[in-house]
This record gives sequence, C-alpha cells and structure tokens, in this order.
Amino acid sequence: MTEQDFIPKPYTNTLKQGKVTWESPSNIALVKYWGKRDPQIPENPSISFTLSQCKTITTLSYKQKEVTSDFSFDVFLDGEKKDAFKPKIETFFKRVEQYVPFLKDFHFTIETKNTFPHSSGIASSASGMSALALCLMSVEKLFNTEMSNTFFNQKASFLARLGSGSACRSVEGDLIVWGHTKHVAESSDLFGVKYPYTVHDNFKNYQDTILLIDKGEKQVSSTVGHNLMHNHPYAASRFQQAHDNLEKLKPILEAGDIKGFINLMESEALTLHGMMMTSNPYYILMKPNTLEVINRIWKFREDTGLHIGFTLDAGANVHILYPESEKVEILNFIENELVAYCKNGEYICDQIGFGANQIE
Ligand code: DP6
Repeated sequence: MTEQDFIPKPYTNTLKQGKVTWESPSNIALVKYWGKRDPQIPENPSISFTLSQCKTITTLSYKQKEVTSDFSFDVFLDGEKKDAFKPKIETFFKRVEQYVPFLKDFHFTIETKNTFPHSSGIASSASGMSALALCLMSVEKLFNTEMSNTFFNQKASFLARLGSGSACRSVEGDLIVWGHTKHVAESSDLFGVKYPYTVHDNFKNYQDTILLIDKGEKQVSSTVGHNLMHNHPYAASRFQQAHDNLEKLKPILEAGDIKGFINLMESEALTLHGMMMTSNPYYILMKPNTLEVINRIWKFREDTGLHIGFTLDAGANVHILYPESEKVEILNFIENELVAYCKNGEYICDQIGFGANQIE
C-alpha cells in the first residue's frame, strides 16, 4: 500500500446531513515510538497493547454547506465548547484533506468525551484522534458503500496516524505494530497492523493498572520530544534497538515468557526516558514518586516472584502490567503500597482490549 491508495475516486452520490459516533480506546506501547519525520512517519517500529476502559467517545455531526472554501467546525468536550482544540483539528484536517476530500463541503460539530479523568495526564491524543478518524471514515463509507472492512480499518488507522502517531495503533487490537520492520510481515510506516504471530495465553486479558502520579501539564510535549530525536547522539542505535526488540519479542510472546517480556518492556520504558535525559535541551518527566513506585515494584517482584512489571509513557505516570492470573495479589499490593504515591490516590484499572466500536 502507498499513500496514493488512500486517495478516493470522485464520489458519485451526495450527502446532506447526519451524524456518526465512535468510541476508540487508548493504547500502551511496549516498544516505544519516539522520533518521527514528515508526514508523521515513525523513525522506528513500535508495538502496543490496545486498552479497553480508557477511551474517547466522539460524535461527528455533518451538515452540507454552501461555501466550500474553508473548513468549518465546532468542538465540544463534555458538552462545553473547546476552542483550544481547534488548531490541532485544523492541522489534522489540512493533513488528511486529500484523502477525505469532502471536508470543506460540510459544517462539522465534534462532540467528544473521555472515560478517564480529565487532565489525568493520560494522553487523550491516541483515543481522541482515532475516534475522529473513524468518524470521518464512517462518513466516507456513506459516499463509497462498497468499501471493505479491511480497507476501512486500514484507512482509519492511516488518517489517525496523521493526527497523532500513536493513534494509528488504537483502531484495532489486541497487539498492534506500527512502523516498517523486516521482523514483522506486512508492517507499514503508514498504518498499524495486527501483530501476525502466535501469542501465548499468558498474555490474554493482560492487566494494566495506571497509577496517576502527576496530573499537571507536561513540561515538554511529545511533539517537542520527538523533534529532539533529530541529531540526538544516540538516535541511530536507539532506532536499531527498537527493530531488535521487535525481533526479540516474537519468541517471548510465542512461548509465554513473561520474565523476558517484563525485561524488554521495562528496558524500553527506561530507554524512552533515557532519550529524554540525553536530548539537548535535556529534561526529566519522571517524578520522585515515579522512582519510588518503580523501586517498590522491583522489591515486591523479588520478594514474591510474581510477574509484575511496569512501563512509562511520556510522563510521570506508571503503567503496571501483569497477567490476569495474578490480579488479586498484585492489586492488593498496589492498593496497600503504591496508591500512596498517586496524586489524590487516583489510579485506573484497565486491561487489553480489541479496538474501536461504532456506536451510531
Ligand atoms: C511516548 O503519538 O503522542 O507515548 O505523533 O506527535 O502525536 P505525535 O506523538 P504521540 O507520541 C507517543 C509517544 C509515546 C510512545 C508510544 O506511544 O509509542
């Protein structure tokens, strides 16, 4: 597939007005996407678990308009007008216009809400951008009713990627690879693909408890962070390491080797933050409580032999991943020992999910 394959033939029917609704989940990367070039092409392959409970629900209403020279839309978050979201959506519309050429023909109302707490520090860009991309695809499908489900999902992921890179991994589940690597057949820089190899039952219903350590605005945004990978002294070896880790993950996932899985996942998380600390300007997104939690997880693992591990996104929050079979003991530990390090004691219990759903 190339970008050209996503440019539609001229539509033959017309649409007046209507609305569509999608819910789309967040995802948590095991091998991290960190570094990109235009147009939203990742510098290295990544793989993530799609989540189940943390999601965005978006309704897109469309109404045909007379003047078709500009984009026209309003955005609402939890029922309140959110003009602060407009520039990001305008940039997204500009990037995807050639692939969904109806954008200037309608006035859109975008109504969105998240299931996770507002400003929890959980990135809403993956769930938010994928939900919006899916809504646009549902409108396109009304123009082109012949479209196959496979193409629909591929193009939704392709559009979502142009909104936010990691969003392309939220359309489907449960394990999604994005970024071309010779280690994963059919992998592409343009959209996410389902992980095509055997996955052991140990990883079915894998749990992710997200500790909300710091809910403030990040000091350095992901966009700036990605850019700092240009001319980063360790960039080339980091990008190579991501390919190597995708290769190493294959036998781990196949054999159900949770120890190997935890080792690779924690190494990826600390490498991501290592890249931030060795950028110039350098910065640290982990907080003292992030380190406290990590040390306690390591100690508990050593003491009990349970299969608890962590990963981090580009912030201070800690994702604790573990098999469903150890849920009771590990949740007990989290509640007794780790919740004290969360801002206002807040944490979210989630698990692997299977992708987005159309609601209307
Ligand atoms: C650390 O997808 O938020 O979560 O493409 O600029 O929107 P943009 O970046 P974004 O970056 C996510 C980075 C990460 C790792 C990952 O999800 O793979």
